[in-house]
Amino acid sequence: MPPILVSLREDHRNLKRLLAILDAEIAVFERAETPDYDVVTEILDYTREHMDRFHHPAEDLVYARLQKRHPEASGTTHDLLEDHVRLEEQTQHFAEVMHAIADGTEMSRARVLEAAKAYLAAQSRHVEVEETWVFPDAERYLTEEDWAEIEQEAVSSPDPLFGDHQGAGFDKLRVLLG
Ligand SMILES: [Fe+2]
Ligand SMILES: [Fe+2]
Repeated sequence: MPPILVSLREDHRNLKRLLAILDAEIAVFERAETPDYDVVTEILDYTREHMDRFHHPAEDLVYARLQKRHPEASGTTHDLLEDHVRLEEQTQHFAEVMHAIADGTEMSRARVLEAAKAYLAAQSRHVEVEETWVFPDAERYLTEEDWAEIEQEAVSSPDPLFGDHQGAGFDKLRVLLG
């Protein structure tokens, strides 16, 4: 498997672990108890720092080539490319809700739940489509030359949470992830 695809799949595995943690925090909130807002904020920080800045742009390079090599998949890849923009906006919205709570702003429970669930559902669905349909197609239809170009064009950065060179600011998640 092309190394970039290995690393994109690893990102998905890591993200799914974070989404499971978020799901548990949402369940706490739904029981009218207080979730750990720091944990939720760290998940959003990770999404913005790693997924939005490095993971999605690398996928964009893959999908652009897949549209050429396998036009039958272009509907799905087009949707995924749009998703990358929408997911970023949705993450931003959820982060703003979290910041407002941290600042002591009154916020209805329904509004918080709506933002949290929208984020969770959209991220999960997006990864599912990529893993089930688009990554297998990319592996099948892209040429070695395509992958070499993608490797060259993709901007990579050490994963700040799951990588060897861990960045600051994910203290709570590190404990939870063991
Ligand atoms: Fe994606
Ligand atoms: Fe992805």
